[in-house]
Amino acid sequence: MERWQSKFERLVDYELSESGVHALQLRELLGSEKAAEELLDMPLGYPQADGTPALRSKIARMYKGTTPEHIFVTNGSSEANFLAAWNLFEKGDEVVIMVPNYMQTWGLAKTWGLKVKPLKLREDLGWQFDPEDIKRLVTKKTKAIQVCNPDNPTGAVMAKEQRKALIDAAKDSGAWLLSDEVYQGAERVGPQTESLWGYHSKTLITNGLSKAYGLAGLRTGWLVGPPKKIEDIKQHHDYLTLTPAKLSDHLAQIALEPKKQEWIFARTRSILQKNYPVVRDWLEDHGSMFSHVPPTAGAICYVKYNLKINSWKLAERLRTEKSVMIVPGDHFGMDGYMRIGTGPPKDYLLAGLNRVDELLRELKAGKRK
Ligand SMILES: Cc1ncc(COP(=O)(O)O)c(C=O)c1O
Repeated sequence: MERWQSKFERLVDYELSESGVHALQLRELLGSEKAAEELLDMPLGYPQADGTPALRSKIARMYKGTTPEHIFVTNGSSEANFLAAWNLFEKGDEVVIMVPNYMQTWGLAKTWGLKVKPLKLREDLGWQFDPEDIKRLVTKKTKAIQVCNPDNPTGAVMAKEQRKALIDAAKDSGAWLLSDEVYQGAERVGPQTESLWGYHSKTLITNGLSKAYGLAGLRTGWLVGPPKKIEDIKQHHDYLTLTPAKLSDHLAQIALEPKKQEWIFARTRSILQKNYPVVRDWLEDHGSMFSHVPPTAGAICYVKYNLKINSWKLAERLRTEKSVMIVPGDHFGMDGYMRIGTGPPKDYLLAGLNRVDELLRELKAGKRK
């Protein structure tokens, strides 16, 4: 998915494959002349490799009982996910991975020769997993359980019963719990999703500024974990990118100032609340062609379609014939679905959906390529 997006997302007229809200501008983030001046005076030497204490303190504030020693700043949450997997996974290990999910950890586990057991989210349960499934899948042999909460692509937030079943399974088996929480703070409705941090001693949380903050360009992510494990993971980072970016460390501190963070989350929520109804109304206008469970979080809507076309083919036709990108369900191993990004400005979103309509009309009329 990432390869396909990277290759084409800047070439199409309407990019509806992105899962975050449209980006904040540097000017909005800085907010004052003084803050801009400070930036101009910054010496651009190597930054602190694990993130400055100031930034790590700000991150630690968000996870109960943590200190800066529990925090490790990375280049995006994708690097945090990679480092966690690289540190923990060994060929032959057994891992349980919630699906559909951002498929990075899944792909790494498969590539490195692990035995991957899928924990399936079910549409009939509002994109929750069946607690009985996790009891059955997780055993003493399980090295790690990986989840994404809130989830990409479904936009679902894990319900209470499932959280309990997950934590119990991790505790009973002694497996590591890996939780990708990069959509935390991007809730369209309901309270902010509670982190899975603090319930099981072997937990690693990944998060970052790309989605809920609209700051993907900073490439700031982080790992939260037991200090000993974090120290161990740092050694892996020395073989990878060494440090996060210095400018980003500084700007991330600004984004995580409590008042600024509150303002950013409010902006994100207001975009999601304005845009989701645009997509929902558009879907409803097509009657039985589409069905979906309303997403709780993320600038995404995961849609089941009732058309006789493979999802990858549909996405490719949209891209090549209509210059629109959506993510095909095939990328999540689920044909018959597509993920529409709800984060762009409203007019852009509507214009992109109109292009999708053009192809749908042609498909209905039986026009083939
Ligand atoms: C669940 C999830 N985790 C991680 C990432 C990677 O994000 P980042 O920009 O923080 O590397 C994405 C990007 O779409 C995602 O959806």
